[in-house]
Amino acid sequence: MIFDAVDVIRTKRDGGSLSPEQIDWAVDAYTQGTIAEEQMASLAMAILLRGMTRAEVARWTDAMIRSGERMDWSRLSRPTTDKHSTGGVGDKITLPLAPTVAACGAAVPQLSGRGLGHTGGTLDKLESIPGWRASLSNEEMLDVLAKAGAVVCAAGSGLAPADRKLYALRDVTGTVESIPLIASSIMSKKIAEGTGALVLDVKAGSGAFMKNADDARELARTMVGIGTDHGVRTVALLTAMDTPLGRAVGNAVEVTESVEVLAGGGPSDVVELTVALAREMLAAADLTGGKDPAEALRDGSAMDAWRLMITAQGGDPDAALPTPNESHDVLAPESGVLSRLDAYGVGVAAWRLGAGRARKEDPVSHAAGITLHAKPGDTVREGQPLLTLHADSADRFERALEALEGAYEVGGEPERLPLIIDRIA
Ligand code: URA
Repeated sequence: MIFDAVDVIRTKRDGGSLSPEQIDWAVDAYTQGTIAEEQMASLAMAILLRGMTRAEVARWTDAMIRSGERMDWSRLSRPTTDKHSTGGVGDKITLPLAPTVAACGAAVPQLSGRGLGHTGGTLDKLESIPGWRASLSNEEMLDVLAKAGAVVCAAGSGLAPADRKLYALRDVTGTVESIPLIASSIMSKKIAEGTGALVLDVKAGSGAFMKNADDARELARTMVGIGTDHGVRTVALLTAMDTPLGRAVGNAVEVTESVEVLAGGGPSDVVELTVALAREMLAAADLTGGKDPAEALRDGSAMDAWRLMITAQGGDPDAALPTPNESHDVLAPESGVLSRLDAYGVGVAAWRLGAGRARKEDPVSHAAGITLHAKPGDTVREGQPLLTLHADSADRFERALEALEGAYEVGGEPERLPLIIDRIA
């Protein structure tokens, strides 16, 4: 069926619902280039302003999935389960999580992305490991999954091409912040990835897409609805992103911290979230009663799976990671309790140090980042280092320090969200 793009735009602009046929046509025609960029921009803005019903979001997601390939892991002997995080500062959880879940008997086929803006990307972090390759063919992915039980690699261009095109358009037309569009964008890629079960880590707080828990909850509910409507067992945890996760923000520093977690140590918040998400992933894949994720971190089996996963993608798990040329300490201005350490401020500072990119073509510095010496609730002494900034050159520090102005506070009551705010199933 062929529609007039202007009629479709008018329907949404005036608050109506798009029919399944209109949605299928709009997504397909845009992918093929029949609908002009300005028409899709207008439709995206109408969706942002008017919203979508659950049926519309499900159909829109479905049309984006059908724009490309849907991967198939039925040749594997283990059930597949994956996690998606909406992105945060210091969020390295995939690194310890994927091998932990593999060590407990599931297969984790994770297609991941690079960072843009103040939140880091999993692939950028893993690329600090010498030799590690993010781009794999489907056959190579299957091979790594069969060997290691987990694979984390870049999504190929055949996966949800409609989303790739639409996301680039939303980025330059002020239409990213629409819950139906964010939810369908994320879920189209995760469903096309072919996972049987999915756990969403939806972040709330200054360092997240969704600044408050109510918006994060609505996004989580929308995504859980889409997953369920597509036969993927989907659960969401709403988690705190008011302060960075763990004590390392950047690329190589986050790999080092993840390896500490896999060795049975590491910061308590990273361990707690890794174990909570791993248990949800196993339960969603009907793998309960086997090895517990906390045990896999203690007994070395998660570390064994990590080493297999890194080696299978060309990386050397024993190689030294890049180190920074320059470091700069930020000192506590007075003695007392660190009451606030703002995730957004720290994320922007790490980005300006070179850990992130401003445009998607830019390279990242693997050595750049921030080490946190205290977390909210810790007592600090005046003059003690609170943070250490790392960069390839000292001229990065000034702008990073500007981002940290007002981002931390000593004295007063610590303001913290609970690490796990809610669970939505
Ligand atoms: N991540 C995505 O993949 N899509 C969005 O729309 C937002 C974040």
